[in-house]
Amino acid sequence: MKKQPGWALPSLKDAQIRTKHESVIEKSLFEIPVEARTLGAGRTYYLRTYGCQSNQRDSETIAGILEALQFQAVDSPETADLILMNTCAIRKNAEDKVLGELGSLKRLRKQNPDILFGLCGCMAQEEEIVDTLLKKYPHVDLIFGTHNIHRLPILLYQAMMNKEKTIEVFSKEGEVIENLPVRRFGNHKAWVNIMYGCDKFCTYCIVPYTRGKERSRSVEDILEEVRILKEQGYREVTLLGQNVNAYGKDLHIENGFASLLEEVAKIGIDRVRFMTSHPWDFSEEMIDVIARYDNIMPFIHLPVQSGDSDILKLMGRRYTIEEYKQLVDNIRSKVKNAAFSTDIIVGFPNESEEQFQHTLDIVDYVKYDNAFTFIYSPREGTPAARMEDNIPLDVKQERLQRLNAKTNYYAHLNNEAYLGNVYDVLVDGPSKKNKAVFAGYTEANKLVNFKTSTAKPGDIIKIKIVKVKTWSLDGEEIID
Ligand code: SAH
Ligand code: SF4
Ligand code: F3S
Repeated sequence: MKKQPGWALPSLKDAQIRTKHESVIEKSLFEIPVEARTLGAGRTYYLRTYGCQSNQRDSETIAGILEALQFQAVDSPETADLILMNTCAIRKNAEDKVLGELGSLKRLRKQNPDILFGLCGCMAQEEEIVDTLLKKYPHVDLIFGTHNIHRLPILLYQAMMNKEKTIEVFSKEGEVIENLPVRRFGNHKAWVNIMYGCDKFCTYCIVPYTRGKERSRSVEDILEEVRILKEQGYREVTLLGQNVNAYGKDLHIENGFASLLEEVAKIGIDRVRFMTSHPWDFSEEMIDVIARYDNIMPFIHLPVQSGDSDILKLMGRRYTIEEYKQLVDNIRSKVKNAAFSTDIIVGFPNESEEQFQHTLDIVDYVKYDNAFTFIYSPREGTPAARMEDNIPLDVKQERLQRLNAKTNYYAHLNNEAYLGNVYDVLVDGPSKKNKAVFAGYTEANKLVNFKTSTAKPGDIIKIKIVKVKTWSLDGEEIID
């Protein structure tokens, strides 16, 4: 399909650029043109989110904008007038899932000729994907990128009222856009963006190209958001960034994340979490702040990616495995009951059996509470994609299985230490599987299931652990 006038297509070349320009904080970029104000009246939307917490939080903004346009949310695509997929590009299988889903949803146009299909998020930022969508998924009416969310009212208006295929994907470093609507999906746990983008350029990773450069929100805007959340009764906030340790560097704030974290903790919200912290610039000051405040949860997601220093170097991770171990030891010595989770990639180009063994060794060393493990997937435009993806799939799969056996073992072993003890649990609500059973999380982010006759979602209650599983605990409410 030929490029149409008015389209802005993604450009990998533009996405790779980093200048020294400071990012602009835009406070009044979002607007709903008069003609779009009732665009969604009498119409429904179905929004499906893939990928990481950044995408979850973006979906809350998208839902906020759609509801400001009077669209109503529905739980199934079958009853929707607008289907929107907020997508993830981190691995090929994440993309394949979305493309498969898009293909199967196409049938809905037969029942509802006015249905509108939209795709946004990280896949929209990829040249190759947009090309595929144009060639093979002509039923997709609207494509917009991660830098274009605030333009949704105008883009939707074009697609719906002018019945034009609408594509707007900016590939740029990006700004900080404030004052967007938000429809939060949780009632007592909230995501709070503290920064956007990533400048780490790990060699395997597409995020720096799909999300733009590292840029921080102002301290005041973040604290104000947390204060409001507290007033609204929220009990937990998670401070979000691809690499929160870099918070404030672009604003020339010294010890940016440590001081922000401290200020957030002082607001007095019950639970403060943060993710993701990169092992590379995890400072002493950060550790001290985590140790000093009871309401900063002692649960740290610390992606290691590989246990081998040579592979880490090829990955561009900026730390050796010895430095990583030192950091874990440091955190453990200062933060009581510190628990760790991690991300690991197996089958990076040239990873030998011995190097993979080193990954198993780091799991033995840290004994993670939880690990997200992945098979390496080459991403177009990244430096690693220029290396030969030379580990056969069966070897990658076999390594993944061995790794998972080990991480599961430690997850279960760590859980065993919980048996018979009492923990504070933030009550989420009835569990997905059984409505009579409630689910909640401990400070170290352990999922606990329990029966209760008194507790309501959002309460923090004492639970005694009576049974241990690999991925959850069963407990009983302690009533004093
Ligand atoms: N900013 C976070 C991670 C974001 S992506 C951090 O630096 O930790 C989440 C995880 O996906 C990564 O930690 C990595 O383990 C995995 N991942 C990223 N790119 C990948 C790729 N090309 N193939 C396989 N896994 C990948
Ligand atoms: Fe990707 Fe590395 Fe940035 Fe994380 S820090 S988002 S893995 S480039
Ligand atoms: Fe995926 Fe984009 Fe997040 S690629 S992991 S949704 S930043």
